[in-house]
Amino acid sequence: MPDRPGSNASSARSLALIAIAVAVVVLAFAYTAGWLSPQRLTPAKIVNGLAPPDGPALGFRRNHAKGICFTGTFESNGAAAALSKAAMFAPGSYPVTGRFNLATADPKAADATVRVRGLSLRIVAPDGSEWRSAMIDAPFFPVATPQAFYDLLQASAHKDDPDAMKNFVAAHPEFAAFGAWATSAPWTASYAQDRYNSLNSFIFTNAAGQDQAVRWSFLPAAKPEPVPDDALKQRGPDFLATDITQRVHGGPQRWTMIVIAANPGDQTADPSKAWPDDRRKVEAGTLVVNAIEREPDGPCRDLNFDPTVLPPGIRVSDDPFPAARSAAYSVSFNRRTAEDKYYPHTPAEGAKP
Ligand code: HEM
Repeated sequence: MPDRPGSNASSARSLALIAIAVAVVVLAFAYTAGWLSPQRLTPAKIVNGLAPPDGPALGFRRNHAKGICFTGTFESNGAAAALSKAAMFAPGSYPVTGRFNLATADPKAADATVRVRGLSLRIVAPDGSEWRSAMIDAPFFPVATPQAFYDLLQASAHKDDPDAMKNFVAAHPEFAAFGAWATSAPWTASYAQDRYNSLNSFIFTNAAGQDQAVRWSFLPAAKPEPVPDDALKQRGPDFLATDITQRVHGGPQRWTMIVIAANPGDQTADPSKAWPDDRRKVEAGTLVVNAIEREPDGPCRDLNFDPTVLPPGIRVSDDPFPAARSAAYSVSFNRRTAEDKYYPHTPAEGAKP
């Protein structure tokens, strides 16, 4: 016989159903947070791993914390439209918000102490589509997978254990090439003289629906002038921001964008391996930096240069990095914006100091 509504058996069944529903939700949260699989690599773990021993700089990006914002345009010559139907490859001029930056978690690091420099871009097309890209000047990434990046962070955090880095290098032979680049590549005294590379591989799709695996780079118009690193140390701790501000006041600074097309069979999943130099290159246009913007409270502050924000015509490949980066950048963005009160805001013009 069915239970009467309001009977003890019916109430017990309803309570049991509610308890099961709550347990399922709690388990789903626990799974997402990684509590059920402590060995699983989560975005929060990676971001925690980026923090220096005395903790992160609150309110700042958790990596590439030091930088300077700019605005400009991307002048497309139309040549890349054969490879991608992305709206910003049609001939024309598209607004850019970007950021020169240094690969450090310390916003006060002296410029001469940071080996890797970056360029971040957001290019917006009239149809509202956006292309965000965050590139570095190294020709390849230090490691082959996001897990290996986390392992590198862990190994370098254990400075008191001489075996930690030794074991890491033994387990990740690809790291040797990056080490050789870092110790032998010339330093320049200007963001304007550096080449910046996507390193990650993406898929371009053209109007005919044809796919092409690509990477891209921005090549400086300014001639690179190598400066010995001890000479760089003589310059002030913020010489890069001073230099780029002066240059841009003197006139727009330019980079040529090249798209590098993979040959059939080239691997796309591992950014620690450069493709051979002879791959087809298409000059897509010119990045023109017209104005340096304030870094604190400027237009880059609340921008997340998430490399998976892509227009129709560009999509991620089997390279695992963009998805891992997107998740980590989002954690970093959420933390830094929630820490607003620690960020060194600039007083509004006319406000009392
Ligand atoms: C798993 C690998 C990586 C992790 C976990 C990681 C993590 C991060 C984090 C947390 C930020 C700060 C984001 C924000 O608060 O807005 C950042 C910024 C940045 N990263 Fe990565 N990154 C990774 C790989 C890469 C690669 C492969 C490149 C270049 C090829 C790169 C270039 C940059 C640049 C240029 C920025 C500065 C972006 C900006 O100006 O806001 N990163 N990264």
